[in-house]
Amino acid sequence: MTKGRKPVKRKLTTKFSVHKFEPLDYGRAMTVASSAQKEIPPGMIDLGIGQPTPRLLPNEAIARAAADCSRRPGRMLLAYGAEQGDAQFRTALARFLGAVYSAPVDPAGLMVTNGASQGIDLVCTLFSQAGDTIFVEEPTYFLARKIFADHRLKPVALPMDSDGLLIDAVEEELKRSRPAFLYTIPTYHNPTSVCLSGARREQLAGLSRRHDLLVVADEVYHPLAYTAVPPPPLAASCTSARIISLGSFSKILAPGLRLGWLQAAPETVARIVQCGLLDSGGGVNPFTSGVVRSALELGLAEENLRLLKDTYSRRMQAMCAALRRRLPASVRFTDPAGGFFVWLALPENMDTGDLLAKAIARNVEFMPGIKFSSREGLKNCLRLSFAYYETPELLEGVERLAGVIAVD
Ligand SMILES: Cc1ncc(COP(=O)(O)O)c(C=O)c1O
Repeated sequence: MTKGRKPVKRKLTTKFSVHKFEPLDYGRAMTVASSAQKEIPPGMIDLGIGQPTPRLLPNEAIARAAADCSRRPGRMLLAYGAEQGDAQFRTALARFLGAVYSAPVDPAGLMVTNGASQGIDLVCTLFSQAGDTIFVEEPTYFLARKIFADHRLKPVALPMDSDGLLIDAVEEELKRSRPAFLYTIPTYHNPTSVCLSGARREQLAGLSRRHDLLVVADEVYHPLAYTAVPPPPLAASCTSARIISLGSFSKILAPGLRLGWLQAAPETVARIVQCGLLDSGGGVNPFTSGVVRSALELGLAEENLRLLKDTYSRRMQAMCAALRRRLPASVRFTDPAGGFFVWLALPENMDTGDLLAKAIARNVEFMPGIKFSSREGLKNCLRLSFAYYETPELLEGVERLAGVIAVD
C-alpha cells in the first residue's frame, strides 16, 4: 500500500452554501452558490464571488455533449470506471491541453479527479501525515487552507512578489524544515493573479529535483489568459521534476461538473491510482467524463474557453479602468493578465476587515486579505473578482466600493 497514507474518515461537506441572490438588473432572484458561505441579501453586489456568471454556464453545450455521448455503443459509462479515468477521455483531454499549453501532453500522465479540490485532498491523503509541515504562498487560496487544516498540516507561508513565489525564500526555508510538499498557484494566482515568471518556474523545477521536493502546482487558471501568453505550466516539467499539476473544468466549463485532472510522471500517477479510495470506488466521475469527452471532441470546450476569455478579458479591463478612475492613488493594484481576480493593497494602516462592515452597509462586498493569509496578515488587502457579474454591475460595485474607501 501507499506509504504515508493515513486512514481518514471525514464527513462529506459541500464547498458552498446555496442561497438566494438578486443581482442588480438580473430582474429576479436566482439561486447561486457563494464562496462566502453566507446569505447574500437582494441588491448586494458581492465582488468577492469567484465563480462564473450563471449566463456563462454552458447548458446547451453540455446538452449537446450528453446527447452525443448517449449515442455511443455500450453501457460502460454507468459501470465502475477505470481508476485513472477513461482512456479515451484522457486522450481527448491531452489533445485539448496540448493546444492550451502549446506543448504535447501525454494521456498516460493524466488522471481524472473530482476537481482540483479533490486533487489537493488526495495529495494530502497520500503524500503527508498529520503534523507535517507544508510550504504555501502568502497569500494562498483560502479554501486550500481549509483542506490543509482538515489534514492537520502545518503551513509555512513563503513570500511572493510581482513575479510570483520567491524561490530563493523556498530554498532558504528548506534549510530549516522539510515539508511534505509545496503548494503553489503559479499562473493567475488566487487571490493576487500574479504569474510566476518563466525563470522562476525553471528555478523551482531545479529546486524540486535537487531537494526531492514535491511541488503541488494548482494550475486551474492557466487556460484563462487575456493579455499575455503565460510561461509554460509547471505541468510541462512533471516528468523531469517531482511535480503534480492540478487542473479543472470548474473555471473553463462548469464547476457543477466536478471534473478535473492531475498531471504527473506516470510512476506518480501509478502510485496515486492504487489508493484505497479508487480501489473501492473506481475512477471518479466516469459518467461526467464521458459527457465532457464529447464536449472536447466536438470542439465545444474550446469554443466555451474562447467565449470565457473574451468575456472575462473585457470585464477585467472595464473593472480595472473603473478602479483606477475611482479609487485613491494610495490603493495599489496591477491589472491581471488572466484568471478571475484583482488584488488591492490599501495603505498599511487600513484594515479591510473593518472596512467590510462599512461596505456591506453600502451593499457591496469583497474578500478581506486576511482570509488568504496563513499568518493573520494582509489586513490592508482585499480581493475582487470579475467572474460573476456583468460589466454594469461590476462598475456599480466599484462605485460603491470607492465610496467606502474614500470615506476612510
Ligand atoms: C486556486 C484554486 N484551486 C482550486 C479551486 C477549486 O477548484 P475545483 O472546483 O476544481 O475543485 C479554486 C476555485 O476557487 C481555486 O481558485
